[in-house]
Amino acid sequence: MSELKNDRYLRALLKQPVDVTPVWMMRQAGRYLPEYREVRAGAGDFMSVCRDADLACEVTLQPLRRFDLDAAILFSDILTIPDAMGLGLYFSTGEGPKFERPVTSKAQVEALGVPDPEQELGYVMNAVRTIKRELKGEVPLIGFSGSPWTLATYMVEGGTTKSFAGIKKMAFSEPKTLHMLLDKLADSVILYLNAQIAAGAQSVMVFDTWGGVLSPRDYNEFSLQYMHKIVSGLTRNVNGQAVPVTLFTKNGGQWLEQIAATGCDAVGLDWTINIEDAKKRVGDKVALQGNMDPSMLYAPVERIREEVQTILAGFGEGSGHVFNLGHGIHPDVNPEHAGAFIDAVHEFSAKYHK
Ligand code: CP3
Repeated sequence: MSELKNDRYLRALLKQPVDVTPVWMMRQAGRYLPEYREVRAGAGDFMSVCRDADLACEVTLQPLRRFDLDAAILFSDILTIPDAMGLGLYFSTGEGPKFERPVTSKAQVEALGVPDPEQELGYVMNAVRTIKRELKGEVPLIGFSGSPWTLATYMVEGGTTKSFAGIKKMAFSEPKTLHMLLDKLADSVILYLNAQIAAGAQSVMVFDTWGGVLSPRDYNEFSLQYMHKIVSGLTRNVNGQAVPVTLFTKNGGQWLEQIAATGCDAVGLDWTINIEDAKKRVGDKVALQGNMDPSMLYAPVERIREEVQTILAGFGEGSGHVFNLGHGIHPDVNPEHAGAFIDAVHEFSAKYHK
């Protein structure tokens, strides 16, 4: 179906037969790898790695040299879109991402433009093209973006928040302003992901890290509705090859049916739900990605192997499962444990694919 040497990841997302369950890890390129820390130290800061196509390519490939991963993910960040809108992204040590110019008023929202993916975000497309070339068809390349709600959260709060006071104040006292922002973000995400697909991404994922802080009604109004719009606006086929779309709402376990109803191909699961329950609820409609607790990688290798078997048994027979962590890998994990995790998925899953 494709010219890939290993297309298990795409096949599982499309529920086509596979030999073993494919696996990749959210944040698989990153600080738990000494070779990443070396590149990062040489480059200065994180965004300098993202802006340099060769460095972004190098760190994307690093985990694939070490581990038997079934997919590569573009090295970049979800906050590139707000940065391209002019908010001035920077990272302060220990505090995560921040914006120099947060967006809090209606006038500021009105003034925001939709970034041109080949201009302000051209560095991301260059990274996609370089990585695609250097992957040489070994495994598929995943492109990604943040969800409008999650991006808006960072834009309004100006950084990471625990209370979500600023964004919820806007949601409940000035909903029209927030909807204008979310709509511009949805349009930006559609252009951005379609440009990544045109540049060579073979599948895309939308990260809705903060959808789970909303009530069910508000989740639908402020997050899901816009992800639905994105799914409807994406290029889903390139030269006869399907481009699968995965939606991931962290803490979104109670909304699987609604997420699946957007028309996406796969739903990402964090670890707060049993995959067998998720499969019963939406498994005939979509593929599932997940869902080992990333902290399990701190456990002894035997415990990790046990957990992998439990999750594989939970999903059971057949295709439609992409193994992953339920959220990003922690920076202080021993890389050997990550390797043992990945190998265990392949070792123990063959019996479910006869
Ligand atoms: O998965 C991958 O390997 C691809 C690269 C990727 C990064 N960020 C690299 C990164 C992806 C897919 C993301 C997504 C992202 N970024 C999300 C959604 C997923 C999630 O984790 O919920 C969010 C919320 C962000 C925003 C962001 N970027 C945060 C909160 C941070 C700080 C994290 C920290 O622990 O300091 C970043 C920086 C970032 N993005 C790093 C990496 C490898 C660390 C940068 C560094 O210090 O080298």
